[in-house]
Amino acid sequence: MTDQLRYDGQVVVVTGAGGGLGRAYATFFGSRGASVVVNDLGGSFKGEGNSTKAADVVVNEIKAAGGKAVSNYDSVENGERIIGTAIKAFGRIDILINNAGILRDISFKNIKDEDWDLVIGVHVRGSYKCSRAAWPYFRKQKYGRVINTASAAGLFGSFGQTNYSAAKLALVGFTETLAKEGAKYNILCNVVAPIAASRMTETVMPPDVLKALQPEWVVPLVAVLVHKNNTETGSIFEAGGGHMAKLRWERSSGLLLKADDSYTPGAILKKWDNVVDFSNPQYPTGPNDFLTLLEDSMKMGPSDRGETLDFAGRVALV
Ligand code: NAI
Repeated sequence: MTDQLRYDGQVVVVTGAGGGLGRAYATFFGSRGASVVVNDLGGSFKGEGNSTKAADVVVNEIKAAGGKAVSNYDSVENGERIIGTAIKAFGRIDILINNAGILRDISFKNIKDEDWDLVIGVHVRGSYKCSRAAWPYFRKQKYGRVINTASAAGLFGSFGQTNYSAAKLALVGFTETLAKEGAKYNILCNVVAPIAASRMTETVMPPDVLKALQPEWVVPLVAVLVHKNNTETGSIFEAGGGHMAKLRWERSSGLLLKADDSYTPGAILKKWDNVVDFSNPQYPTGPNDFLTLLEDSMKMGPSDRGETLDFAGRVALV
């Protein structure tokens, strides 16, 4: 097919590529001309143990189909070794898919430091370390594509997943800033919240739902986002079962009060409806949007508040 998106001559690192979504990404890029580093620590979904088998099986699969691939068995927390494998085997790195992940689901009441640290370590520190190691190559060649992996749990919260939710939303902020820093160098970074059948989800979803959520059905969106012709960056997407959508931050129309001693909790309560009113929303894309609002606030006179309080503070809890 002539209109097929191709990645010939490019080098792709997929972390956690020994199974689930990572395997689907790796085999896809292997079939579309890219050289692939298949990274996987080969442990359990809770982050216990390690093995070379998971990565090797996928490398063999890619090679058997005529593609180019090498294994890497390091933890993503040793990102420089994973990127080092790409450089040693193929001489470059073009695309980094930070996909590796673990779960340590437990209610907040029972969570232990270890549950917190392991999950934050693999997802946040792991994505940081791999991206940090790839960054100098991306900058030098003025080309790079990064996908980070978030989750609906991070975007919306999910019972029993405080550690995982915190890690996954951290990757949204990480991506948004990486995209800003990378823009000048044609390094495009996006974050995807997938949903797919894998060992992570097979115990929490019914079989018929799992059947409709093949990992392969997340791949095409990621393929578009890391293609050389893509221009989208700093964006959040969800994808699964053939559905995909972009998400963005929405700010209510808001309330602006003069920041003087009349600015009390009570003054806010009187106009609470404005604070939570989304009928005229804004879609901020950077911290400067908020600073502009503050500039407006500084120009306000006391009369702009449109109300008189008896005395500062006391009115607060009316
Ligand atoms: P999976 O468990 O099949 O794949 C994760 C892979 O990462 C495993 O092969 C595992 O060995 C590897 N891994 C774990 N820790 C590692 C480390 N320290 N270094 C290197 N490799 C490591 O799970 P799945 O579902 O394919 O997950 C892929 C990503 O998608 C994860 O980041 C997960 O949090 C995310 N995700 C998945 C969802 C789903 O519905 N399957 C939903 C939302 C997010």
